[in-house]
Amino acid sequence: NWSMNDFIDLQIQKIREQVGDRKVLLGLSGGVDSSVVGVLLHKAIGTQLTSIFVDHGLLRKGEADQVMASLEGKFGLNIIKVDAQKRFLDKLTGVSDPEKKRKIIGNEFIQVFNDEAIKLKGIDFLAQGTLYTDVIESGTDTAQTIKSHHNVGGLPKDMHFQLIEPLRTLFKDEARDLGEKLGMPEELVWRQPFPGPGLGIRVIGAITEDKLNIVRDSDFILRDEIQKAGMMRDIWQYFTVLPGIRSVGVMGDGRTYDYTVGIRAVNSIDGMTADFARIPWDILQKISVRIVNEVDHVNRVVYDITSKPPATIEWE
Ligand code: XMP
Repeated sequence: NWSMNDFIDLQIQKIREQVGDRKVLLGLSGGVDSSVVGVLLHKAIGTQLTSIFVDHGLLRKGEADQVMASLEGKFGLNIIKVDAQKRFLDKLTGVSDPEKKRKIIGNEFIQVFNDEAIKLKGIDFLAQGTLYTDVIESGTDTAQTIKSHHNVGGLPKDMHFQLIEPLRTLFKDEARDLGEKLGMPEELVWRQPFPGPGLGIRVIGAITEDKLNIVRDSDFILRDEIQKAGMMRDIWQYFTVLPGIRSVGVMGDGRTYDYTVGIRAVNSIDGMTADFARIPWDILQKISVRIVNEVDHVNRVVYDITSKPPATIEWE
């Protein structure tokens, strides 16, 4: 629509004025928002933009490769991929409080950026894919903090970057609209939202590599079956969680005592409210059978039938 095209022109103009001939660093998370910011900034300032993609070990299966192939391969962004799995997992060892996890992940992100920025030299700006929803729910604009989405709240005082957040006034659907207007392919723009802390908030409680693998593998099966069913655009966000409880099951002649995996699937416009998705039983059954058969140490699959409110979309 006309207003989004105006928005693009305005933002490009604003970004060019703000940046001049200086350099910008962007953190790519693998999600829609930062990808859209990347393409927008690339359009505005070209090679003055360098992007950093941090593989924090909390990504979905195949995610890093996909992001690199589309944004670097297709759009020509200059992306530095940093393998920081060990760094993040070491810091997160034994931490079970969700807000602490978010803070650790958010801080570590900033540290990694800072390290890379120092190596790059002469970076003045840091760009982020902050949405209006993130601003609200992090309590910047309201009294109550629901979840501290890590990409809000600015930078430590001793870091001398200025922030560029061109999506700060947009909701998710508007960010997607913007992506489409920028010529981004459907599979990139219509990726479901993925939180910055990634699988780190989908393993409930303390994170271990084994638990991450259960979430990653079960999530992959869920996405695979949703894709096979052609339902990708029908569900706003869908993923698995590992609550960390174990229960009794039976396999063959034997008793098992293994983990429960939760399926979360919701429909929403902007993430502020959400309705649990009505996935047909036969598809849910396929997903359940595959997860129990293909993912070690899982013997039970449950489906989350709460909406937001009173629940939130993520379990943490
Ligand atoms: P909730 O769980 O708050 O989620 O209902 C609303 C939307 O926000 C995403 N989400 C996050 N995104 N950092 C992010 O960048 C976070 O810490 C975070 N927590 C939740 C969530 O996936 C959903 O799309």
